Amino acid sequence: MRRLRESAPLRRLVQEIDLSSSSLVYPIFIDEGIKSSTGITSLPGQKKQSLESLRREVDSVASLDIPAVLLFGLPAKKTSGGTNSYRKDGILQRAVRVVRENYGDSISVIGDVCICMYASHGHCGVVQDGMILNDATLEILKKIAVSQAEAGIDIVAPSGMVDGQVGAIRRALDDCGYPQVGILSYAAKFSSNLYGPFRDIAKSTPSFGDRSSYQLSPSNLEEAMREIQLDIQEGADLVMVKPAMYYLDILREARSRFKHPIAAFSVGAEYFMIKALVKEKLANERDIVIEVLSSIKRAGADIIITYFAKDVAQWLEESAT
Ligand code: PBG
Ligand code: ZN
Repeated sequence: MRRLRESAPLRRLVQEIDLSSSSLVYPIFIDEGIKSSTGITSLPGQKKQSLESLRREVDSVASLDIPAVLLFGLPAKKTSGGTNSYRKDGILQRAVRVVRENYGDSISVIGDVCICMYASHGHCGVVQDGMILNDATLEILKKIAVSQAEAGIDIVAPSGMVDGQVGAIRRALDDCGYPQVGILSYAAKFSSNLYGPFRDIAKSTPSFGDRSSYQLSPSNLEEAMREIQLDIQEGADLVMVKPAMYYLDILREARSRFKHPIAAFSVGAEYFMIKALVKEKLANERDIVIEVLSSIKRAGADIIITYFAKDVAQWLEESAT
């Protein structure tokens, strides 16, 4: 076996996984309450953007040839019903317009569709008497998706694990004249302990209980496959597995059962853990990130959503020249 491992060119020749900037998506947080870009302590090295600084951020993403950004809005004010999530002048809707006006079709824009970041209770659904209501939530999600479509979004990404969300959003988009807007469904999203950094940024930790009545149990692979199948039946264009690193078996199984493009979301804590190793000089950042992302691709992901997207694209560019 060592014959083919002898030299760098031979190793390149037989390499099975090629990372490329084409499969990366970069998540961006836009904060309604700030005037300029601001560091995020729970995601060291990342920054949240203001509407003003967003353009410069997208410039850097576009110049690295990353084809898509995933936008998350941080509203100045949360309400009990999460109503700021679907305002025409909501933070995410305005951000989408900024990107559209400046970039036209040259970068694709994916918008997170959920109410947890906008609702004071922090849950991904409408809350009544301590219960998370399913179908009442669909009405809000439809409004969010349509408001983003109005602003010029390419892809909406419902992340709440609400039953029927893909079908409801598909119909709403079609009925309102946006048949061209696609859906990336967070189809297999697990009730994970790796969302801590994100919830810290979004201040979206549920005020009571947890998300296990809607997100998947980490034990359940077959149930995850049923979620993916349902979302495909309901009209999802792309499906996601989230988190990535500890769920590679789910990715592999989804790959073998479904032909749709599959995205993997390497979440905040996956980023943080790597950063912590690097900070302690226990790993080389470039090498460990390439290893982890290669594993995610090898497991079956076509698309990787990662806070490392810009770094990776930069490294790939450097190694090509
Ligand atoms: C909730 C949502 C979560 C993330 C994005 N949207 C998870 C959650 O709070 O349950 C996680 C992203 C990350 O951890 O990087 N709709
Ligand atoms: Zn949510």
